[in-house]
Amino acid sequence: MAASSSSAAAVAAAPIISAERKVVAFIGDEDGVATLRAGLESLADNLDVRRGGLRHAIRFFRTLVPVSACVIDISGEPDPRAELAELAQVCPPEVLVFLVGDNTGIDFYRLLIHELGATDYLPKPLTRDSVQRLLLPRLVGTAVELADFRRGHLVLVCGARGGVGASTIAVNVALQLANSVQGQSVLLDLHLHDGTTAMMLSAKPGPGLRIALESPDRSDGLFIERATLTVESRLRLIAADDASDTAPSITAAGVDQVVELLRQKFNFIVADLPTPIPESVRRLLTVARHVVVVTHPDLPGLRDAKVLRQSVMLAAGTDRAITVLNRANQRGGLSKELVERGLGKPPEVVVPDLGAKMLEAVNLGLPAVQRVPALRRHLQPIVREIASVNTEQAPRRKFMRLFRR
Ligand SMILES: Nc1ncnc2c1ncn2[C@@H]1O[C@H](COP(=O)(O)OP(=O)(O)OP(=O)(O)O)[C@@H](O)[C@H]1O
Ligand SMILES: [Mg+2]
Repeated sequence: MAASSSSAAAVAAAPIISAERKVVAFIGDEDGVATLRAGLESLADNLDVRRGGLRHAIRFFRTLVPVSACVIDISGEPDPRAELAELAQVCPPEVLVFLVGDNTGIDFYRLLIHELGATDYLPKPLTRDSVQRLLLPRLVGTAVELADFRRGHLVLVCGARGGVGASTIAVNVALQLANSVQGQSVLLDLHLHDGTTAMMLSAKPGPGLRIALESPDRSDGLFIERATLTVESRLRLIAADDASDTAPSITAAGVDQVVELLRQKFNFIVADLPTPIPESVRRLLTVARHVVVVTHPDLPGLRDAKVLRQSVMLAAGTDRAITVLNRANQRGGLSKELVERGLGKPPEVVVPDLGAKMLEAVNLGLPAVQRVPALRRHLQPIVREIASVNTEQAPRRKFMRLFRR
């Protein structure tokens, strides 16, 4: 943008929205394409109108081009629920989704807006006037409506006690999840001093996360995005560097802001939490869709896992915990019966001791699933549980908000 120019002409000629606020549209007919282009002319280079529909939009979002809003023609689709659910998996939560179509029924409108959470629906035929009046103001509005939209799916991973394998589970679940779902995932390491996720992935984080956690007023979506490192095409990592020896002063406000910004950018956020969970991080228990509680088969671990599970229940009002019994067959560990008695119920996931190769993986800076393929099979139930909330339930049975308002 020509924001630095002081001349009125330059300011007037500048596009209304910034380069980060691109709009892409897929319209099924030539007239509609021309009308949309005319109505949104003021967006200039920030507008990209193509012939197409829902299928083209889904394919487009798989390519990871950053946009802030999309307009999609769903004419001729009597029941677009399944395809909209598919779109929701690849379209970042922060993207506004406007739909246009030929169905003028109020039930259809309610379905799209109230049940599926589309930003708005415009009946066809589009006119330049309707585009300018109903669509343009929503596309250039800079205020982010935080209240209603669907944010990314937050998964917390915490050890009942230190050293039980929480970071191992977090890193490898994040990798497997990123390979199983089509959206963007991020692994957030909330240890500021002794985090190990970066080490496990041979990554070198910068100071971004620490700055964002300590001074929430200094960070925004772009700052957070730049603080992330690419692990794989669909997985990023945000972790603190270990450079500073001063004690970090993280506030709950800082944690909330970082998680909120990540939930606007990413479809899935897997967070590795320190044990015990610091006060500034505890509020996340109320926001998380799943809390993975990792324990060993020993008495102190089971006792602490049970307490942690109860905290999740209290904070969330429903049982969102997934208990993982790690190194279940450890020498001297408790039997299956005693573990169940200690936890008050069987663990949802059981991972055996996978031997020295697990430690070797850490020392080589390789994800354990690469070095020990059996781990993949053991983690699959966790990945399935997390992914199915967004993929399997959405299309027909349980409608959930798919998009941001
Ligand atoms: N199922 C397993 N079999 C064998 N080794 C394992 C298994 N799970 C984890 N480990 C090993 O246990 C060690 C500790 O794991 P990890 O660092 O993930 O624990 P943690 O709970 O995150 O520890 P901390 O409390 O220090 O953060 C690592 O060397 C890891 O490779
Ligand atoms: Mg750890």
